[in-house]
Amino acid sequence: MNIILLGPPGAGKGTQAQRLVERFGMRQLSTGDMLRAAVKAGTPVGLKAKAVMEAGELVSDEIVSALISDELAAMGSDVGAIFDGYPRTEAQAVSLEAILDSHGRKLDHVIELDVDEDALVERITGRFTCASCGKGYHDRFERPEKEGVCDKCGSTEFKRRPDDNEETVRTRMAEYRAKTAPILPFYEKNGIVSRVDGMADMDAVTAAIEAILNR
Ligand code: AP5
Ligand code: MG
Repeated sequence: MNIILLGPPGAGKGTQAQRLVERFGMRQLSTGDMLRAAVKAGTPVGLKAKAVMEAGELVSDEIVSALISDELAAMGSDVGAIFDGYPRTEAQAVSLEAILDSHGRKLDHVIELDVDEDALVERITGRFTCASCGKGYHDRFERPEKEGVCDKCGSTEFKRRPDDNEETVRTRMAEYRAKTAPILPFYEKNGIVSRVDGMADMDAVTAAIEAILNR
């Protein structure tokens, strides 16, 4: 199965993708995570992407589509893909069709996380992740069971994203509205779009997504 999780910054794409990975053994393909890894490693892609990401703008279509193509090429054909944060423009949606085709895959679902933008700023500014395994947390909504210790791997190091400040979040939302939301009709034509209430609690959102996948 190949699915896209679509929604503005903070909608819960990464949170839900991690849960689907654990439950169904699918693979999360997050262009944001790939770009952050490239920035950290100081690769040519990372050097190009750093300032763009810090400003909350979109990295070029060519760069992100190449990242996705490489990841899919390295994956077993029996492993399902969860596209998290990709595609984000019409050009990327067109590239994804071609990339999937070349791997004999097809899109099964596009799941839109429907959220109230005003609540997202709080979600994003409170977000942190384990520096070792990447598990996501939130200052208010999902704290580690034992303060300062990751539930999943026991690490005591956590990190926050440099683009998770209010000003950059507003730019990221404007980018979503202008360039990403308009790709929905592209998929609606194929009848594969489902909407989920992304303001519900995390478990309810997971249950709603699972119901769509089991349909
Ligand atoms: P990316 O990393 O994709 O960031 P984003 O789209 O802005 O989305 P986020 O990761 O911020 O949100 P999320 O939906 O994953 O939310 P999460 O689950 O963490 O992209 C970053 C940058 O990289 C872009 O700005 C761009 O520059 C570049 N980029 C990436 N892909 C690109 C592409 N394809 N093309 C061009 N450029 C690209 O949840 C947020 C918080 O809320 C967490 O703390 C979580 O615990 C909490 N939370 C989640 N769900 C709930 C809930 N139901 N109730 C309460 N709290 C919740
Ligand atoms: Mg994310």
